[in-house]
Amino acid sequence: MVVLVTGATGFLGRRVVRELLERGQQVRCLVHTPGRERMFDHRAVEVQYGSVRDPSSLSNAFYDVEAVVHLVGIIRRRRRDSFEDVHREGTANVLAAAKEGGARHFLHVSAIGAANDRSYPYLYTKWLGEQEVVSGGIPYTIFRPSVLFGEGDEFVNVLAGLVRLFPLVPVIGSGKNRYHPLAADDLARCIAITLGREDLKGRTLDLGGTKRMSYNDLVAQVATAMGKRRLRFHLPVWLMYAAAAVSQGFMARPPITTDQLKMLEIRSVAELGELERVFGFTPRSMEGNIDYVNSVGVADGVQMLLGSMPRRIRDH
Ligand SMILES: NC(=O)c1ccc[n+]([C@@H]2O[C@H](COP(=O)([O-])OP(=O)(O)OC[C@H]3O[C@@H](n4cnc5c(N)ncnc54)[C@H](OP(=O)(O)O)[C@@H]3O)[C@@H](O)[C@H]2O)c1
Repeated sequence: MVVLVTGATGFLGRRVVRELLERGQQVRCLVHTPGRERMFDHRAVEVQYGSVRDPSSLSNAFYDVEAVVHLVGIIRRRRRDSFEDVHREGTANVLAAAKEGGARHFLHVSAIGAANDRSYPYLYTKWLGEQEVVSGGIPYTIFRPSVLFGEGDEFVNVLAGLVRLFPLVPVIGSGKNRYHPLAADDLARCIAITLGREDLKGRTLDLGGTKRMSYNDLVAQVATAMGKRRLRFHLPVWLMYAAAAVSQGFMARPPITTDQLKMLEIRSVAELGELERVFGFTPRSMEGNIDYVNSVGVADGVQMLLGSMPRRIRDH
């Protein structure tokens, strides 16, 4: 049985591919940027190039597929791609190709907090994508993870950059907003387990890890992993909105966008114990599993502050 993975070269995708291969699945990867497939053993996976924005590029990739794992998503608008282009239209294109290719299970990664509320463009368009999946005519499972951590992540590594640079770590607002961090490796495992689980068809699952944490807790956790003691200072949210609005006017990749600031208001937590109940294993905690933050140096922190991720930290 062939499982087609979109977004296969991404932070989550490469873990999903690895997990599927370990379970003996035949994997076909949809690769967006040619060359990125070099991260995989070329004998282990089949590769097809294409963009979810271009239906004609998908027709070659989706023949004879049993299941599709759809991971493509963008956290920042791109010059040529709006959130809606990728999350709604892209998902509709993938669904059409999957249907044509005979897929019998569509596994879709959305995000916790996806809702019919236009004031949060990322989450609103993730919700639009979910609606496409629900009405797409293929039995589906939708995953709505909270923030993901693991080597190469953006969230925790950026915190590490701040901890590395500042004795007093800047926090936007009160820092009391809640998260429910989940290891990307654990989400990949959930996705692989879901294949072949008839009982999970038609389900939408909010998923978090072992512990709910505030942003302030996360800063403390990262500082501890780096062997640092850090105090925080809190920046007024209005000031950050003004800074983000100005910087996104002239920077291709501003350190933070107004959309991301708005999302800080959202409680990004799942039901405790849901993952264990549904998938039968305990997800790993952040504690003891984020040692990779120690590789973030001063120069990396400066680069992140300027809005770009060092390639040695995150390679795409
Ligand atoms: N990371 C998190 O904390 C988090 C939390 C909640 C939900 N999610 C969701 O999880 C999914 C995976 O996230 P991630 O962190 O793995 O993202 P990522 O690392 O940015 O990976 C995205 C992948 O999608 C590919 N892609 C982008 N545009 C494409 C297009 N037009 N056609 C085909 N492929 C395209 C990228 O390829 P190129 O790099 O070659 O463009 C990359 O392989 C997303 O749907 C995201 O919304 C992530």
